[in-house]
Amino acid sequence: MSKIKKAIIPAAGLGTRFLPATKAMPKEMLPIIDKPTIEYIVEEAINSGIEDIIIVTGKGKRAIEDHFDNNFELEHHLKKSNKLEILDKVKQSSSVNIHYIRQKEPLGLGHAVWSARKFIGNEPFAVLLGDDIVKSETPCLKQLMDVYDQTGQSVVGVQEVPLEETKRYGIVDFYNKNGNTYEVKKFVEKPKSNPPSNLAIMGRYIFNPELFKFLSEQKVGAGQEIQLTDSIEELNKVQKVLAYNFDGKRYDVGEVTGFILTTLEFALQDEKYKDAIEKYLMNCGYRYEN
Ligand code: UTP
Repeated sequence: MSKIKKAIIPAAGLGTRFLPATKAMPKEMLPIIDKPTIEYIVEEAINSGIEDIIIVTGKGKRAIEDHFDNNFELEHHLKKSNKLEILDKVKQSSSVNIHYIRQKEPLGLGHAVWSARKFIGNEPFAVLLGDDIVKSETPCLKQLMDVYDQTGQSVVGVQEVPLEETKRYGIVDFYNKNGNTYEVKKFVEKPKSNPPSNLAIMGRYIFNPELFKFLSEQKVGAGQEIQLTDSIEELNKVQKVLAYNFDGKRYDVGEVTGFILTTLEFALQDEKYKDAIEKYLMNCGYRYEN
């Protein structure tokens, strides 16, 4: 049994890169094929063995709460019209409890995680961002939980990115590597130049509760936001934080191009849509080879 039982999913950002779509609809509710992005993330948490999820929401995020609520009218209708396969899709999993907390102002990811501190209390916890979907044999979060259970150290999920993209991410400066695990000298948020490596933080984390001490200082960092990476760096100075290069393919759905490419790839992997899309692409003059 893992020591990690609780997970935070921050979903209170403004989603400005998707405006105007996100003016009245949360970015986390934008669907990849027929499922809101946040549902992929919740599924990963459930499949990793998480028992309680707290979603940090903000203004205009009611749709997230409605989505994870039971909709008896809809379920009754689907049952009556014998649409049992669809009924299965809309029914909520009973293996996890979902809770909500409001971030009063979108002051940054670090501030969103800090907003959930009372729910977490004094135990280790997970954080999953809705911007990254990971397809892997063992759920990405479970891989990090295994590292935590073996070491008792906080651990952040990383993957390699092209050097020219490092300025978009929190980057890891490491001094030792053991298999997929790295001991970290420094965490640098969005380095403008001379990135210390091409290992980028990818939106999956396990933390010891001491992190909240640094988050509560609420220091403003890159982009004038309270950055999570800055507090990870502070925590690393007093209690080593590991980086783990997880197995699996990561899809960046937090910006428009990544979102479109993910939708296309997921559709091409789905028997239901594959033929129609291949045919369409071929008619447009694109050659698709599987
Ligand atoms: P992003 O920076 O990708 O989300 O944060 P954003 O701010 O909504 O997007 P843009 O840049 O304006 O397009 C990563 C995750 O952290 C959450 C977001 O909802 C997203 O899931 N977040 C971010 C918060 O919960 N609160 C914040 O203050 C900032």
